[in-house]
Amino acid sequence: MKREDFQASATGSLVPTERGQWAFVPIPLPPAMLDHARLSKPLSETAEAIGELNGIGRTIPNPYLLIRPLQRREVISSSSMEGTFTTVDALVLAEASDGDRSTPDTREVLNYMEALSAAIASLDKLPLSLRTLRDAHATLLRQVRRDRGANVRPGEFKQHQNYIGAYEIEKARFVPPPPREALECLDALERYIHRDEDGLDTLIDAALIHYQFETIHPFADGNGRVGRMLIILHLYMRRKLIQPLLYLSPVFEARKDEYIDRMMAVSRDGDWEGWIVFFLNVMRDSARQAIVLADNIGALQKNYRERLQRARNSANLLLAVEYLFERPAITVTSLMNRLGVSYPAAKAYVDVLLRENILVEVPGTSNPKLFLAPEIMKIISGSQD
Ligand SMILES: Nc1ncnc2c1ncn2[C@@H]1O[C@H](COP(=O)(O)OP(=O)(O)O)[C@@H](O)[C@H]1O
Ligand SMILES: [Mg+2]
Repeated sequence: MKREDFQASATGSLVPTERGQWAFVPIPLPPAMLDHARLSKPLSETAEAIGELNGIGRTIPNPYLLIRPLQRREVISSSSMEGTFTTVDALVLAEASDGDRSTPDTREVLNYMEALSAAIASLDKLPLSLRTLRDAHATLLRQVRRDRGANVRPGEFKQHQNYIGAYEIEKARFVPPPPREALECLDALERYIHRDEDGLDTLIDAALIHYQFETIHPFADGNGRVGRMLIILHLYMRRKLIQPLLYLSPVFEARKDEYIDRMMAVSRDGDWEGWIVFFLNVMRDSARQAIVLADNIGALQKNYRERLQRARNSANLLLAVEYLFERPAITVTSLMNRLGVSYPAAKAYVDVLLRENILVEVPGTSNPKLFLAPEIMKIISGSQD
């Protein structure tokens, strides 16, 4: 990190690290000044898209039909940005078999799914806090491969200086605050997240908070993924979202270089507006993608309803199909548990769904056999629609 680039920064100051490099310490939020005129058009476009998404959130009978596929896309894209790769197919099969036979990468992404849904669920009982984020980090990075997780300390903030964008600190693009300063920054950020409403729009706030969290870089690893969880947690906590339906990683992934450059430009040049406009546009496009997904899911559900309405026990079959939208790979036992029916009854429903080509058997699985819903998979996989 070049000292000259950050020396005159309006958004932070430089402090020496233990080894004589320079680290950037961001000034607590909010920014001293924002050019609101530049933000108003992107803000209203984004608010409109989110309003439409909230309309869906308000009327959809079972929001998990939409929440689960969106979360899968989120964790896959967010992980892929950090060099951990899996596919929707692999993740769905891992969910159905508790990670058995999955690759280490897929298991890490499965952890991420769990961390994300647990963090969101925790907001019903506890306020959003640093503790929420440390718990999420612990779940995300538990039992990760040694070569990556060795010095990560799941659930704990950093104890050593970290840096971004190189293998040696001398060549790093960016050096975040040292551990002690990072803790001070985090406390200020936590207070900021919980401050009373002050007229600043929550969507703009989301952009500020994400930048601040990433710039603090509080963990040894996992900062990108935990910081992207914080976005949905904050929006949901502030009731900007009726249901947790807005996830930004697929769009961030498609614009990854700009994502990083824009955060860098806040630290270096004080360009808050450039970052906020970018972030708002990412939110808008993400909301639109979620709306398209909701439409596609609704259409396929209607199609299945028509196909199954004349079958015997159609009410239970429709519940089985609803389950498939949440979990497109199942076993007979998982369906039995979900519907609260006997094993033979669950088996009979699976047979009907196989005959209707709504399910297919996953080749090579036994004890238990896995069944997959290919049409549902097709809809939930397309990340760019
Ligand atoms: N110059 C920068 N300023 C602030 N944040 C950055 C910068 N460059 C990258 N980041 C953030 O750091 C994240 C990567 O940090 P890392 O701890 O490796 O997270 P993960 O393990 O989830 O990969 C990126 O996804 C991005 O959000
Ligand atoms: Mg990483």
